[in-house]
Amino acid sequence: MREATPRTIRREDYTPPPYFVEHADLGFELGDPVTRVEARLTLRRNPALPPGPLVLDGQELGLKRVAVDGRELAPHEYTLTEDHLDLGILPERCTVETSVEIRPGENTSLEGLYLSSGNFCTQCEAEGFRKITFYPDRPDVMARFSTTLSADPARYPVLLSNGNPVARGELPDGRHFVTWEDPFPKPCYLFALVAGNLVSLEDTFTTAGGREVKLEIWVEPRNAEKCGHAMHSLKQAMAWDERVFGREYDLDIYMIVAVDDFNMGAMENKGLNVFNSKYVLAQPETATDEDYEGIEAVIAHEYFHNWSGNRVTCRDWFQLSLKEGFTVFRDQQFTADMTSRAVKRIKDVNLLRTFQFREDGGPLAHPVRPDAYQEINNFYTLTVYEKGAEVVRMLHTLLGPEGFRRGTDRYFERFDGQAVTCDDFVQALEEATGRDLSRFRRWYSQAGTPVLGVSGHHDPRARTYTLTVTQHTPPTPGQPDKLPLHIPFALGLVGPDGVDLPLRLAGEAEAVAGTRVLELTEAEHAFVFEAIGTTPVPSLLRGYSAPVRLRYDYSDAELAFLMAHDTDEFNRWDAGQRLAERVITRLMADYRDGRPLRLDEGLLAAYRKLLEDPGADRRLLAQALMLPSEAYLAEQSDAIDPEAIHNAREFLRHALAQELRPILLESYHAHRDPDYRVSPEAIGRRRLKNVCLGYLMALHDETIQALCMTQYREADNMTDAMAALAALAQVDIPGRIEALAHFHGRWRDDPLVMDKWLALQATSSLPGTLEEVKRLTRHPAFNLRNPNKVRALIGAFASGNPVRFHDPSGAGYLFLADRVLELDPLNPQVAARLLTPLTQWRRYEPGRRALMAGELKRVLATPQLSKDVYEIASKALG
Ligand code: PHE
Ligand code: ZN
Repeated sequence: MREATPRTIRREDYTPPPYFVEHADLGFELGDPVTRVEARLTLRRNPALPPGPLVLDGQELGLKRVAVDGRELAPHEYTLTEDHLDLGILPERCTVETSVEIRPGENTSLEGLYLSSGNFCTQCEAEGFRKITFYPDRPDVMARFSTTLSADPARYPVLLSNGNPVARGELPDGRHFVTWEDPFPKPCYLFALVAGNLVSLEDTFTTAGGREVKLEIWVEPRNAEKCGHAMHSLKQAMAWDERVFGREYDLDIYMIVAVDDFNMGAMENKGLNVFNSKYVLAQPETATDEDYEGIEAVIAHEYFHNWSGNRVTCRDWFQLSLKEGFTVFRDQQFTADMTSRAVKRIKDVNLLRTFQFREDGGPLAHPVRPDAYQEINNFYTLTVYEKGAEVVRMLHTLLGPEGFRRGTDRYFERFDGQAVTCDDFVQALEEATGRDLSRFRRWYSQAGTPVLGVSGHHDPRARTYTLTVTQHTPPTPGQPDKLPLHIPFALGLVGPDGVDLPLRLAGEAEAVAGTRVLELTEAEHAFVFEAIGTTPVPSLLRGYSAPVRLRYDYSDAELAFLMAHDTDEFNRWDAGQRLAERVITRLMADYRDGRPLRLDEGLLAAYRKLLEDPGADRRLLAQALMLPSEAYLAEQSDAIDPEAIHNAREFLRHALAQELRPILLESYHAHRDPDYRVSPEAIGRRRLKNVCLGYLMALHDETIQALCMTQYREADNMTDAMAALAALAQVDIPGRIEALAHFHGRWRDDPLVMDKWLALQATSSLPGTLEEVKRLTRHPAFNLRNPNKVRALIGAFASGNPVRFHDPSGAGYLFLADRVLELDPLNPQVAARLLTPLTQWRRYEPGRRALMAGELKRVLATPQLSKDVYEIASKALG
């Protein structure tokens, strides 16, 4: 808990560690309520600095003994505070031993050592290790760890830690022990242990270099049958990283453990990943196609960290994107190769443009490499992760695949075993390719989303087409003035027949057909393409080549044209989104001004054309038929009015469904498959069928509702069951109650499936939803101490149900603030995240703006607030 204003940590204040740890020898006597931790640290003073005191981090540790070079210290020989143990200046080389007692059963923050379903597990990133033992808890201190775990063999038969097991046996008191040794030096944030009653799925992987690696996925016995997909994904990821990045695994064993109580998605601890069970467990009856894809992506992400994060790690937490942005880029490329490149890109860009743009344009905007923080846990953000991945993607685009690979090879070779910076990464790419990336580096230091203004002019007489491109980045907190960025700008010019024109810039000898990547480095550029005889439609920012807002004044007809003809699959989709966005924006104005709403004929024709194309890729088609989300539409508005957005969008869905009913129904039936399969085709067919069902359910028609009930009842897989149930959850009919009750009865013992049940109800746009959500907070399926439950019910309501959360009465805001305050003493990290929807208060129309700010102020005025919540609330209001 916080006393005064929390201290701000600044990147510019970085200093190297005064002591290095060469070896960390840890002993755990695991027990509930009390666990004893013995640490023996072999230390070396940093010769580059004048001698200074050894100050170890430590929080909530019951110190029992401290000794230096074998001599126990008396209390007057050290200083112990709330978060530090200061041992004064120590010899150049020495050993420090500490013995502490901790209480994992009381740890509700899920940081440090805690219990999940009665099993011990740890979470140390970013600064959780200091809740386990006294240690220099910073990523640039890298040590070799040996860990001995001992426990009651009956309750904790399985004892796991990082590295390889080197000894095991029984102790005289009846406990058993296992000793693990990790040969690779690592920062303590990558430490992990797990102990409990678990079973494993085992397999092996032989690396390109011929090393045989044991693979183990550990779960609670009830989940033993749900690990197959995770194991398959792991092997795919291992092979892919060898093929695409030349990276091999380095230990004899790779373990994954699934736990139900976890603050984030998963954690890349060396050789012992700990996962939120949501990203491990799957069976067709319990997991949707999206869940399967999520598992594959997160398993890969954590595996890829073994090189991008573990072998080469971060010097300090400001460099977080060094490992996260790069690893997200790697997992995106992996998923693109495993599934569909265009669909993956569409999903990533949707996330970025809806939620990262919102962050980047709000009071919590920060650069990919932040300059200051109060609580590092608040900086595991969409900017660090998703925009960070976009920055790496731009480097990939600018250098080309070969240049980029040469650069990453150099990076891994040069910095293996070290803790480095984002700058080191860029420098390795520069050295390997001879490119100058000095201006590009601004992407790491400058916050905010750049706006590209583009206009085109065709001169038929001169046969030239001139593109004028300007860039500017709006101010963000603490950064009033922005500099131009180095932006890869991919484009094509589409001729009237739908074919890309060959492109030749003035002064160039040869024309190149298809997409071309221009490089923007200045505030304004003019590009003159020659030998352009007919007026083209420009297809701009193909593949979404940079994380910017693109402004080009397309006509509706041009958008419909691109939607039908653009050779770039992403831009074809994007043209459809722009067209739909525009139509909805007009409907919103009509709604507000009380004019009758009318269906736009152009959009209707475009959608009909999509549905009538027999050759279309089903997944892409399903994606193209989905209207921009309410959250995305909100992000595009100035004084956001969630009700107008909701009603305009619902009108459009209903009107399209009415006009397209026969073809939607036909498509629905045509894509029903007699049996469940998991191929990309089968997944695409399911997706399209369920998108059609969603539209048809907007008709509020009894025949369709009966069809939906039938799909729910007959579904032999969760994808189809959830699609039907999600549609039913939106309509006030007896079948809704019946299906929800049936679902509960069938799945009440499966916590992950119950999360879906909670989220469905929380995201219903029916008027009684807030009351329902309140009731559900008292339901046995809900538990405030479990982050998945909090996200499924409260998080889903606040971020996934704009029209109900933003009820004009402010009741949604009051409810959220109450839950944040209730959760804060238990789990500040999750509480702070839960608060984010309110931080957007300035974007709303005046009534809601005041109510949202009022709740933020109430939160901020609460005594004993954690620094996590304090930082978010104070910055949001600041
Ligand atoms: N480093 C984890 C990842 O792979 C995320 C994480 C951060 C997990 C902090 C737990 C705590 O992205
Ligand atoms: Zn990560």
